[in-house]
Amino acid sequence: MANYSEEQIRSLGLNSALLPKHVAVIMDGNGRWAKQRHLPRSAGHRAGVDRLRGIIRLSSDLGVASLTLYAFSTENWKRPSDEVGTLMALLIEYFTKEIDELFSNNVRIRIIGAYEEFAAPVRSVIERAMKRTQANTGLNLNIALNYGSRAEILRAANLAMRQAISDGRSEITAQELENYLYTAGQPEVDLLIRTSGEMRISNFLLYQCSYAEFLFPEEYWPDFTDEAYLEALRTYQKRSRRFGGLEEEA
Ligand code: IPE
Ligand code: IPE
Ligand code: MG
Repeated sequence: MANYSEEQIRSLGLNSALLPKHVAVIMDGNGRWAKQRHLPRSAGHRAGVDRLRGIIRLSSDLGVASLTLYAFSTENWKRPSDEVGTLMALLIEYFTKEIDELFSNNVRIRIIGAYEEFAAPVRSVIERAMKRTQANTGLNLNIALNYGSRAEILRAANLAMRQAISDGRSEITAQELENYLYTAGQPEVDLLIRTSGEMRISNFLLYQCSYAEFLFPEEYWPDFTDEAYLEALRTYQKRSRRFGGLEEEA
């Protein structure tokens, strides 16, 4: 459900019929952005948060169904505790400040990851955000918090297996497994963007990215402008996706 007309989408150099249904972003490079400016890493994370509004708004206006943002991985606990603390404080600040605008833009917030392991103040702010927006019908905004794809798949397999055992079955189907992923019911990822030039997936959406197109723009996340995002979408639209088949004749 795009807010932009087809005409507006065309004027941005995009074809509305070829837009990705699900975009996933590994927002990387906050620390290096700060270092480049002789600032503390926390300043990079803050600048990174400031980029969220534009990317979310554009995704929503273009009619992308799902946007998944990697905000904190299961491996990020390895960072110094003051950095983890900064990230948690920014999370609380973000949800507190932005929830009204997200709500009025019809965005539905879902948290993917084991957020129940976070401290109570973080948990309560994210639970409030999910609850407040649960009836919204626009962009599905998945924020990956304490997320790791291996843990997600293992969790889904265990939940599906438990159900199978209670039904007296000894195997699970792919559909059952998918039903227990955090992204159940959402389209699989069409486009994965990782900023900062790093070319790795870092335990993000391994199952959902099976046929995703990958883009690795050089900009650090705080420098990834709305225009850079549009450019990524234009590049995506030039890719030929075959899904194991053959090129369709034009
Ligand atoms: C990404 O930026 C943000 C998080 C992981 C939370 P980094 O903090 O990884 O930035 P670099 O990779 O050190 O530049
Ligand atoms: C991936 O970035 C996680 C997030 C962006 C939240 P990292 O900076 O943590 O990943 P590695 O350590 O470079 O693989
Ligand atoms: Mg990094």
